[in-house]
Amino acid sequence: MSEKCIVINGGHELNGSVEVQGAKNAVLPLLAVAILTEDDVVIEDCPHISDIDNMAKMLEELGARVEREGTRIRVSGSVTRGCAETALYKSMRSSMFMLGALLSVTGEVDMPTPGGCDIGARPLDIHLDGLMRMGARTYCDGEILKCRAESLHGANIVMRYPSVGATENLLMCASLAEGETVLINCAREPEIVAIAGALKAMGARISGEGTSVMRIEGVKSLHGATLRPCGDRIVAGTVLSAAALCGGDVTVYGVGANDMRSVIQAFRSKYCRIDENGIGFRVRSEGRVQAKSAITAPFPLFPTDMQPQFLACQCFSDGISRVQETVFENRFAHASELAKLGANIAVQGNCATVVGGKLHAGVVRATDLRAGAGLCIACMKIDGESKVLNPRYIDRGYENFVGLFSSIGADIALSEL
Ligand code: UD1
Repeated sequence: MSEKCIVINGGHELNGSVEVQGAKNAVLPLLAVAILTEDDVVIEDCPHISDIDNMAKMLEELGARVEREGTRIRVSGSVTRGCAETALYKSMRSSMFMLGALLSVTGEVDMPTPGGCDIGARPLDIHLDGLMRMGARTYCDGEILKCRAESLHGANIVMRYPSVGATENLLMCASLAEGETVLINCAREPEIVAIAGALKAMGARISGEGTSVMRIEGVKSLHGATLRPCGDRIVAGTVLSAAALCGGDVTVYGVGANDMRSVIQAFRSKYCRIDENGIGFRVRSEGRVQAKSAITAPFPLFPTDMQPQFLACQCFSDGISRVQETVFENRFAHASELAKLGANIAVQGNCATVVGGKLHAGVVRATDLRAGAGLCIACMKIDGESKVLNPRYIDRGYENFVGLFSSIGADIALSEL
């Protein structure tokens, strides 16, 4: 079977408007929320991306009925098992977003651990600490993490770091636990606000979402509802970064500028004007990049999921910049790919130093979802034909990436290698 790639003839300005898809990072946990009731739950605005398709398959394996009609997914019936086929679980890290909901509903979950069996260590310690405080027992059997709970009770939980996934898991468990739970130092991302809103629409009693302290008063049961994710701020930010780099005039709808504040600030420059309105923002850029630095951190600070796109833009800047990654370790695999296009980047520990300059066309390989997006953006700027290999990574988070950027003037196509 021949390998697919994205072929980009760079050097074109971007012009027009785009409406962003529903947020992948909201739809995935909403699918977990949907199993907290036997009633029908309808999730609107679900993009066609492989992570969501896999999560839907996983729900079916666990016993729920899942029907997709266009962008709407209906989940009905009850989940009967707390463990799915290992292959599917392993294919996506997102299976851990099912942990809290599955434990609440079935009382027992078996799940392959992403990084071996060190339960106390990263990346699940915050999830497990919270679940144990609510009455769950967790232990590891070979490479399988086992969680058991006959019942869950409310607790005061201080999270050592505002983990997005752990906040979502604990929010789901706490909604059906007995008594009150207080989550302290929880994540504040817009996706958390969307999940809390969805749970409330199903009868949960939650306050404080969007702040560092959430209170949840457990209820006996939840009921069906129609749920809607927030717009995808990372897709919006990806379009913003491409427009800032390539130049042109692009309006992005579907994400409130409040959810994009740190990203807008990072890309706004003497060459790039960004105007906010109630339902989106407009980017007008000369196609030049002012050297600026950024440090990734939990919301409302600069998102790690925008770091590769930001780094890609800085490769073309008018000076020297530093990009520091504090959320994930080793998230600079795209730096050596950008270097293949002539970028001048030195990575030391969690910090990349970039000397801006001119890049040349070439062939690069996506190493993960956002790295792939960053590489494509760089290629959209470079004159001549470049190729980005491994586009399947990009399909995990962008619905029709190629169509999205062609619609605003990029010369980009999917091809066989
Ligand atoms: C979510 C997003 C992902 C985004 C990330 C940070 C989804 C589906 N994914 O991932 O796109 O990049 O938030 O904004 O929503 N950690 C621990 N122990 C834990 C949990 C996390 O040490 O128990 C560490 C992780 O290893 C990482 C950091 O905390 O270094 C942030 O992780 P977390 O906020 O949990 O990210 P995810 O929820 O996995």
